Amino acid sequence: MLYAEDIIMVFFNVKLLPLLIIPFNSAWSTSSNSIFESLLQCPSTHLKHSNSSKEIILTRNSSAYSSVLQSSIQNLRFLNNSTPKLEVIVTPFHESYVQAAVICSKKHGIQIRFRSGGHDYEGLSYVSYDPFIIIDLFNLQTIHIDIENESAWVASGATLGQLCYSIVQKGKVHGFPAGSCPTVGVGGHISGGGFVTIFRKYGLAADNVIDARIVDVNGRLLSRKSMGEELFWAIRGGGGSSFAVSLTWKLRLVPVPPSVTVCKIEKTTEEGATKLFSKWQVIADKLHEDLFLHLVVEVANEASTTDGKTIKVSFDSLFLGPVEKLLLLTQDKFPDLSLDRSNCTEMSWIQSVMHFAGFPISEYLEVLLKRTQPSRSFFKAKLDNVTQPISQAGLEGLWQRLLEVETSQLILTPYGGRMSEISDSETPFPRRNGSIFAIQYLVTWDDDKETEKHISWMRRVYAYMASHVSKSPRAAYLNYRDLDLGRNHDPNTSYAQASIWGLKYFKSNYRRLVHVKTLVDPGNFLRNEQSIPVLPSGQK
Ligand SMILES: Cc1cc2nc3c(=O)[nH]c(=O)nc-3n(C[C@H](O)[C@H](O)[C@H](O)COP(=O)(O)OP(=O)(O)OC[C@H]3O[C@@H](n4cnc5c(N)ncnc54)[C@H](O)[C@@H]3O)c2cc1C
Ligand SMILES: *[C@@H]1O[C@H](CO)[C@@H](O)[C@H](O)[C@H]1NC(C)=O
Ligand SMILES: *[C@@H]1O[C@H](CO)[C@@H](O)[C@H](O)[C@H]1NC(C)=O
Ligand SMILES: *[C@@H]1O[C@H](CO)[C@@H](O)[C@H](O)[C@H]1NC(C)=O
Ligand SMILES: *[C@@H]1O[C@H](CO)[C@@H](O)[C@H](O)[C@H]1NC(C)=O
Ligand SMILES: *[C@@H]1O[C@H](CO)[C@@H](O)[C@H](O)[C@H]1NC(C)=O
Ligand SMILES: *[C@@H]1O[C@H](CO)[C@@H](O)[C@H](O)[C@H]1NC(C)=O
Ligand SMILES: *[C@@H]1O[C@H](CO)[C@@H](O)[C@H](O)[C@H]1NC(C)=O
Repeated sequence: MLYAEDIIMVFFNVKLLPLLIIPFNSAWSTSSNSIFESLLQCPSTHLKHSNSSKEIILTRNSSAYSSVLQSSIQNLRFLNNSTPKLEVIVTPFHESYVQAAVICSKKHGIQIRFRSGGHDYEGLSYVSYDPFIIIDLFNLQTIHIDIENESAWVASGATLGQLCYSIVQKGKVHGFPAGSCPTVGVGGHISGGGFVTIFRKYGLAADNVIDARIVDVNGRLLSRKSMGEELFWAIRGGGGSSFAVSLTWKLRLVPVPPSVTVCKIEKTTEEGATKLFSKWQVIADKLHEDLFLHLVVEVANEASTTDGKTIKVSFDSLFLGPVEKLLLLTQDKFPDLSLDRSNCTEMSWIQSVMHFAGFPISEYLEVLLKRTQPSRSFFKAKLDNVTQPISQAGLEGLWQRLLEVETSQLILTPYGGRMSEISDSETPFPRRNGSIFAIQYLVTWDDDKETEKHISWMRRVYAYMASHVSKSPRAAYLNYRDLDLGRNHDPNTSYAQASIWGLKYFKSNYRRLVHVKTLVDPGNFLRNEQSIPVLPSGQK
């Protein structure tokens, strides 16, 4: 998927022009020199090197500007008028352009947002209220799978769907624990942690990174060896946007059986869903690591109730093995579920990826290559960790609140297995605090006029749940970013101010992230509403 070497014509924004006089030094990779020399010879406004129609620097006047900007805005809350201060979008197809854009924007004090797949829940990869540029990595999608060595080099601009698809083109018994939404970008996902159906066996996406190539705040192209272990630690869960832009990741592929088992059972509250939920809470994190039994709770129609609505709980599972073995397991550990062979389907791992992405498994695998979701909506989400089973009264109160909004949803993800074996400090995603499962609260809507109403509903549900979930700090997950937790108001945000949200995402790893940040970007150039702060100079 490498793009042709034709050097791009560019309509260059004047603010970026001083790029052309950056001194070359040892930090530059030699291959980038020729491109920069070419750029040097360009006339000041049009850098035309070929008759290629590809543009890498898009201004508002470029015909592709709107479509590129909007194509990976995954939350419609940020589609309109969120980018008045956006100067240009840089869409590099070569690493050297990333270096140039970073150096140039730093030199001119213009902020940068990095974007891979655009799924940031709060739009931070493309929204800023300071003048800024977007470095959009979607042209960097190269994936190289090495089945023999069970590894892969994957560019940040590739999607999780492309990654999974590419793996199975090379072999049917390897997979990778990367999120269930195929359009999610590799760059944002891995740098924020990344969990999915097989993470109880293999850990987070970030736990399976062997090496990475990044461009740091000074425009240097670095690998694991040259960036050092502290920075390499930080970019695997601490969020990319505070530290460096990631270009490619070397990943450890994981074994999957040729056939896995997917089962689904749906129960309404009238059919005893609350009682089953209560049982599930006690066993979910203790089940065999080959079994991922997660729940989705939604509002459903039910003629027998006064308002025609009820709560439906789907027990949706993936087992890394044959159905017989799974049935023995569930009969032993969760007999009340009455899981039957007829509720299960054996399929390949890649078909299970399709299933959890919401596609029929008969669909062509190529749907995983699409970069846009079948439909987009406005949404708001939050996450909680649950450390003690929620009481029946607590659940009933939650159901009441879900019934207020038909498009509300809960996704409950059990922990345990491999997740409780990895030490707290292995990656910035903290571990051993004994949570049973995570709840993701999600609400969607399709009209801007409904935004306030839905967001305040979400905040009320979150307030209600406070007494039922983890406390001091109340846990959150960076990849489910939530600006309600707190935000930086200026570049000088202190350690203490940012700890209000920093401890929720990272617990004790927050402090170490601040130290790494202070070391690699002491001027706090790479920043956003929830970037890691720096310590004042002198403090280390
Ligand atoms: C529909 C949907 C389904 C999801 N499913 C899952 C799931 O199953 N499991 C899970 O764990 N998460 C899931 N997520 C959350 C997802 O993992 C995060 O939103 C992730 O950060 C998105 O990465 P992205 O590249 O698409 O987003 P972007 O918006 O491009 O980036 C997210 C953040 O990372 C930064 N960033 C992006 N690329 C780079 C880079 N190359 N270098 C440095 N920083 C970078 C951005 O600046 C931004 O701060 C889901 C999100 C959505 C919208
Ligand atoms: C421009 O395009 C034409 C036709 O596609 C091709 O023959 C020519 O070599 C191209 N010129 C450059 C400078 O790339
Ligand atoms: C965009 O086009 C308008 C009208 O043609 C022009 O006035 C303006 O300078 C252009 N802006 C940029 C950034 O090129
Ligand atoms: C964006 O704004 C336009 C014009 O005001 C409006 O018609 C459209 O519905 C808005 N789109 C979204 C997604 O809010
Ligand atoms: C696999 O890795 C080993 C050791 O790292 C290396 O020597 C070998 O060349 C690699 N094989 C392939 C096919 O790349
Ligand atoms: C499980 O399968 C049986 C038989 O096909 C079906 O009747 C039942 O509805 C399924 N159970 C649930 C709760 O989905
Ligand atoms: C949430 O719980 C899991 C499982 O115990 C744990 O690994 C994670 O660290 C918790 N998150 C936070 C931020 O405490
Ligand atoms: C941040 O601190 C620097 C140095 O102390 C100061 O010059 C600057 O004005 C401060 N910025 C803001 C927004 O407070």
